[in-house]
Amino acid sequence: MSNVLPFRDPALSTADRVADLLGRMTVEEKVGQMLQLDARDDLRDHVLRRNAGSILHTSPERILEANRLSAETRLRIPLLVGEDCIHGHSFWPGATIFPTQLGMAASWDGDLLERVARATAEEVAVTGVHWTFSPVLCIARDLRWGRVGETFGEDPFLIGELASAMVRGYQGSGLGDPTAILATAKHFAGYSETQGGRDASEADISRRKLRSWFLPPFERVAREGCRTFMLGYQTTDGVPITVNDWLLSEVLRGEWGYGGTLITDWDNVGRMVWEQRVQPDYTHAAAAAVRAGNDMVMNTPGFYEGALDAVEKGLLAADAFDTAVARILTLKVELGLFEDPRLPSEHLDAVVGSTAHAALNLEAARRSLVLLENDGTLPLSVSAGADPLRVAVVGPLADDAQTQLGDWAGGSGQAGWIDGQPREMITTVLGGLRATVGLAVGYAQGADILTLEEDPLGATFPDGQPRPPVVVPAAVDEARLAEAVAAAESADVVVAVVGDRIELVGEGRSTATLELLGGQNALLDAVIATGTPVIVVLLASKPLVLPASVANAAAVVWVANPGMQGGRAIAELLTGAIEPSGRLPISFARHVGQQPTYYNQIRGQHGTRYADLTQAPAWAFGEGLSYTTVAYSALQLASSELGMGDTLVAEVTVANTGSRPVRETVQAYVRDVVTSASWADKELKAYRQVDLAPGEAAQVRLEVPVADCTIVDGAGVRRVEPGAFELLVGPSSRDEVLLSAAFEVVG
Ligand code: NOJ
Repeated sequence: MSNVLPFRDPALSTADRVADLLGRMTVEEKVGQMLQLDARDDLRDHVLRRNAGSILHTSPERILEANRLSAETRLRIPLLVGEDCIHGHSFWPGATIFPTQLGMAASWDGDLLERVARATAEEVAVTGVHWTFSPVLCIARDLRWGRVGETFGEDPFLIGELASAMVRGYQGSGLGDPTAILATAKHFAGYSETQGGRDASEADISRRKLRSWFLPPFERVAREGCRTFMLGYQTTDGVPITVNDWLLSEVLRGEWGYGGTLITDWDNVGRMVWEQRVQPDYTHAAAAAVRAGNDMVMNTPGFYEGALDAVEKGLLAADAFDTAVARILTLKVELGLFEDPRLPSEHLDAVVGSTAHAALNLEAARRSLVLLENDGTLPLSVSAGADPLRVAVVGPLADDAQTQLGDWAGGSGQAGWIDGQPREMITTVLGGLRATVGLAVGYAQGADILTLEEDPLGATFPDGQPRPPVVVPAAVDEARLAEAVAAAESADVVVAVVGDRIELVGEGRSTATLELLGGQNALLDAVIATGTPVIVVLLASKPLVLPASVANAAAVVWVANPGMQGGRAIAELLTGAIEPSGRLPISFARHVGQQPTYYNQIRGQHGTRYADLTQAPAWAFGEGLSYTTVAYSALQLASSELGMGDTLVAEVTVANTGSRPVRETVQAYVRDVVTSASWADKELKAYRQVDLAPGEAAQVRLEVPVADCTIVDGAGVRRVEPGAFELLVGPSSRDEVLLSAAFEVVG
């Protein structure tokens, strides 16, 4: 007979192992198992006194230390290690940092995102981290929100496609695969519906509105097996999401049958006490969080004492933790952590930051660039001969390697053990252009963006978290400006790299304005006034508003935060070594006062414009230019009368009418002509990408199941309403470029 305890026996089923282990655990061990604590704090206390089941934000060394400590515990339950590896293994020195999620969303390419997530999972898994808090399924609404760059943009269908792809990539062929990591769908749900863009403010959102736009991407990944969900910070109708019974029990667990693991966001349980003040103390907060069905509690150390006190006081039964703990143990068993805690591998250098991942990163960067304007100056004509093109590179972001990586990367400040990724792994725009044969590149920074001052309320929040400092826009630096103007005057073309910096991006860093800060507008005005053609490279985490002078720029390219290979990809795009193929996953406003600018707004208002400004965005969802022209014609439906169970089949002719190749994103929107409750005028329902050589045309087939042509009615029920519809097909969401075909749903 074997002496191996049943829960350690890999021959037994997961359920049997978990049941055996649960039966051996004390209530203290169970409560601790539900805790995920900050590995930068006192690890001994976390693991040995509070019996923590999981840690996050850990340096390479502290993974080993935490693991040594867990081996000292009574049951030696392995730790789950989590991290925000949201566009690469963010805080691991030398990891591959891809474009931000919003940048990658501009590729509209699920296959690419799946491969990026797979590569990230390989890098993450080999370093002893088991769980990434990605992807973000929040819908970008108010562009002032600091976390817009973490999203896939503004459209629920596109979000669902790309999120599903990333979840597949992270979770691989199943948790037993040593390169698989747990994915997290976050932030459930409605977190992005901020007030005034203010991060984590009350989300004033009805159940119908949640069901209409915010829940569908989450429902998709829940049904597809995303193993964990993270709950947002916000309250709705006065109820923190952490204890929102309707959302968690009725919808997620009930209607969708979700059996995965729920994790709170950072100190959500504590926030109910000290921030939202809806619970009198940690005892009641812990009891409420457990009753609401949370499985893991992120960084509320006081949950431990609170939950035990709640048992003591009779607020919770001693077995109240069993379901949550069983879910956590199930993950650990399925990951095989009892057999192999998956510590950092000796061979990680062969995987982390590998050449293959750098090549994939370059592909992702290339695909994330969106050409918004071009008067024909691009692509630049580069000559390899004796007469190189003189390029003046200006702008504060032209050579700012860490800013190029964006939020949740080495230098973004969430991790204490790393203040940037290795400079030599990053190619900036200046570096990329300098490495391009046939260019004579000069450089002048031209402007500063900002300085920082400590917040008058102090350097930390009540929970000890750092309080972001106050941003003070930099004054125009006349000497720097004059240098840039001189460089522009003596060049054939100017590349001006402007945008935002990490201090204006991320949690708690929403902005009141969307303008370029500091001396950047003055820089653009001045270099454009020289008459030398100016290419504006907008290196910005989210859509920003450009100054009026940009109407006279030669070209505008939005590059988001394009990752380590960004500068190389941008240089390739500007010089025509690659074709621009990115399409906007989010609309750009002309003015901050237009918020929100998303395309799929509800029909019905007086008029179509502000008295003093159009409501039209500067650049709309789906837009993006190529170096060629594309013509759409002959939109035809296989049948224009369809039953509820049918699929609408359409074909459209797409022709490359110019002289360069193109990857065209053919977009199909559906308009429900009359709805029983007010609804979006049109919604993206399908898209296809097609590669066409110059002069080539293709018949592109698009399919939309009638079952997807739904609205959410006044009673909150999602359904197809029979009647008249239109299918709109074209290169963007703008009405004026869409072909239309009518169809009827009968039933
Ligand atoms: C708070 C953020 O809202 C969430 O997205 C992140 O995963 C956690 N902190 C952990 O860093």
